[in-house]
Amino acid sequence: MKKIRIGTNVFLPMPVVLVGTEIGGRPNVLTAGWVSRVNADPPLIAVSINQINATPEGIRENGTFSINLPTAAMMGVADYCGLVSCRYTDKSDLFEFFRGTLIGAPMIQNCPLTMECRLIDTVELPTHLLFIGEIVGGYADENILNQKIPDINAMKPLILTMPDNAYRTLGEYAGKAWSEGTHLARGT
Ligand SMILES: Cc1cc2nc3c(=O)[nH]c(=O)nc-3n(C[C@H](O)[C@H](O)[C@H](O)COP(=O)(O)O)c2cc1C
Repeated sequence: MKKIRIGTNVFLPMPVVLVGTEIGGRPNVLTAGWVSRVNADPPLIAVSINQINATPEGIRENGTFSINLPTAAMMGVADYCGLVSCRYTDKSDLFEFFRGTLIGAPMIQNCPLTMECRLIDTVELPTHLLFIGEIVGGYADENILNQKIPDINAMKPLILTMPDNAYRTLGEYAGKAWSEGTHLARGT
């Protein structure tokens, strides 16, 4: 197949998350797609947040944040949290929050999977701040657990694609990871 150079504004599919912080003592929620697990042990997650947003103030103030996975049914409120800043519009009454062990990392009751994170490093990028947090506690709704593991189908996460700026739901199960390639192993 002929390859066509398409420039540099290219992306991978991303899960949509809601980043929870406390700013001036009030909960705030920012929608983010630029998020990923980045270390195994300790469990680290990184989220990249534009410096113009209010959320970095909360993360730096408390040294904590939360990551919350909204369901597809929460698409409207998740989109809204990405459209307005708490600098101009209070978002603290959009959700019911619960707390784990950390101060400043409110988690969203309605999200089936949440995690409270302690900030361990901040990488200053030209437009964004890459916040790297250690997951100190993960929480899941009882009814999405399958043998104590969160069931991705039960969570119904939202997937963000760019640059077409679309929300999607997960596709079909395709195969077992770390297993589908074993038949290609060559003898040593
Ligand atoms: C689907 C979606 C994904 C987004 N992803 C990010 C992101 O990864 N990083 C970021 O800084 N802003 C992202 N935004 C924009 C912020 O959520 C938005 O600027 C928000 O209003 C900032 O809120 P705050 O000022 O209260 O912190 C996203 C918005 C949407 C709708």
